[in-house]
Amino acid sequence: MNTIRLHDKQFKPFIFQNQINKAIDILAEQMNKELKEEPLPLFLCVLNGAFMFTADLVRKMDFELELSFIKLSSYCGTQSTGEVSEIIGLNASVEGRTVVVIEDIVDTGITIEKLVETLEKQHPKQIKICTLLLKPDQYKKSLHLDYVGLKIPNAFIVGYGLDYNSYGRQLPDIYVIEP
Ligand code: IMP
Ligand code: MG
Repeated sequence: MNTIRLHDKQFKPFIFQNQINKAIDILAEQMNKELKEEPLPLFLCVLNGAFMFTADLVRKMDFELELSFIKLSSYCGTQSTGEVSEIIGLNASVEGRTVVVIEDIVDTGITIEKLVETLEKQHPKQIKICTLLLKPDQYKKSLHLDYVGLKIPNAFIVGYGLDYNSYGRQLPDIYVIEP
């Protein structure tokens, strides 16, 4: 496989489809074991990045679940608290339920922490976090990540749902930026 160019940057192959599939198989096995007793867990796919991962993951779940798609919008609030994150598209009820957040990647953890804080206000029974990728050297939050597919070094990647300025999301493999 060759290097690719997206906008002004060059990317080289990094994680191949078969490795991604293997990581998802392992996650699915673990989740099937741990979540099967939960009554209709609510899976929340965090758009846009997690769309491909979610599609591959949920078809391997062997229990009943509800799947919903959310987006996060950050804006500067009028209050001095500064940035507030709002969840768009969450029409499923969260109260009393097991919620499984599905993310493409956790980097600093700012996004996931805000999302969890916002969801907690709706009093779920519990929140589980599932992310395909984690940059452990960047992650400084104390929030426990329940299901992590692959740990990667701190470098910018694209493909399999992840984009560089909207490009590269459709790629079946993951590419890393060339220095
Ligand atoms: P965090 O809030 O720093 O954890 O960043 C999480 C979000 O940043 C992810 O949901 C992605 O949208 C984006 N992101 C982080 N690292 C990368 C990357 O290497 N490539 C593409 N997007 C990334
Ligand atoms: Mg994301």
